[in-house]
Amino acid sequence: TVVKLAIATCTAPVNIAVVKYWGKRNEDLILPINSSLSVTLDQDQLKTTTTVASCRSFQEDRIWLNGKEEDINHPRLQSCLREIRRLARKRRSDGDSSVDVGCLSHKVHICSVNNFPTAAGLASSAAGFACLVYTLARVYGVEGELSGIARQGSGSACRSMYGGFVQWIMGEAEDGRDSVAQQVEPESHWPDLRVLVLVASAERKPVGSTSGMQTSVETSSLLKHRAESVVPGRMKQMIEAVRKRDFAAFADLTMRDSNQFHATCLDTYPPIFYLNTVSRQVIALVHQYNRHYGEARVAYTFDAGPNAVIYTLQQHVAEFLSVVRHFFPPDNNGKKFVTGLQVEHLGIS
Ligand code: PMV
Repeated sequence: TVVKLAIATCTAPVNIAVVKYWGKRNEDLILPINSSLSVTLDQDQLKTTTTVASCRSFQEDRIWLNGKEEDINHPRLQSCLREIRRLARKRRSDGDSSVDVGCLSHKVHICSVNNFPTAAGLASSAAGFACLVYTLARVYGVEGELSGIARQGSGSACRSMYGGFVQWIMGEAEDGRDSVAQQVEPESHWPDLRVLVLVASAERKPVGSTSGMQTSVETSSLLKHRAESVVPGRMKQMIEAVRKRDFAAFADLTMRDSNQFHATCLDTYPPIFYLNTVSRQVIALVHQYNRHYGEARVAYTFDAGPNAVIYTLQQHVAEFLSVVRHFFPPDNNGKKFVTGLQVEHLGIS
């Protein structure tokens, strides 16, 4: 007997926000309290690779993450599976013949691997859910706007559905139909922009983004102020800085936004600490470096973890790296730094 198997493998890169998303107005649909903007990294750098197979002989949906089987009943995972299947059925009933009808009634096996530490504040869920949704869509033969589905896996995942400079528009609709990602400029727009990741710790973060955001929304008045009065203007300025390739403005807005995000974490009660001593040393070093030149040549940003992501221009990479190596010298194996800082040199896709 011939057993039909539909299979697809895709990769999705991590994105690093320069205007941060923090706080939901709807927990189930994952609707944010503010818009955000990020840069999607290079395909072959920090990424998730996912294979989805669909087969009549599969008894149930199953998932393996980095080689270990995980609970398929995770609500966010179920939302993505349900929404992709719903979309496939709808497309099919609307007469789209590319949708694979056979597959629709079959169970799927999903296998997903990251080439970087999971949950260390390196946006693993963003690449993971973007990749899952895209790969499922390929198996079912569904195309088009999928960022609204990726959003329901992990908010920031909607931005990894596009390359280059991407905004997630918060939207207004109660059902979330207008809360989607949109490309602001493609990756080719700013060819000399570079990204460095300074790994201060590869440990799992103590407070996950879901519970962290929840507590922040409940307790931080600074977060409310940020969402209502700061981010709307900052989004406009950031989009303009990107469009004009104005690095000084881009760097200034990026650092201020990272700092305000971590200030809202401190304003959360009980407070959340994502930065550590090394993170603070990196912040001080960047400001001192920029002050030395009298202009912003390097910018830092930190997500829900202590690792610094550095944005700079190609012509400053070598010098800034040598400064980093001077203050965080490598240990014996030549890769790690005594402080635990490890430098990854990344591109943008
Ligand atoms: O999508 P989540 O739930 O992993 O939240 C991401 C939150 C930040 O990384 C801190 C900010 C952002 O916009 O990516």
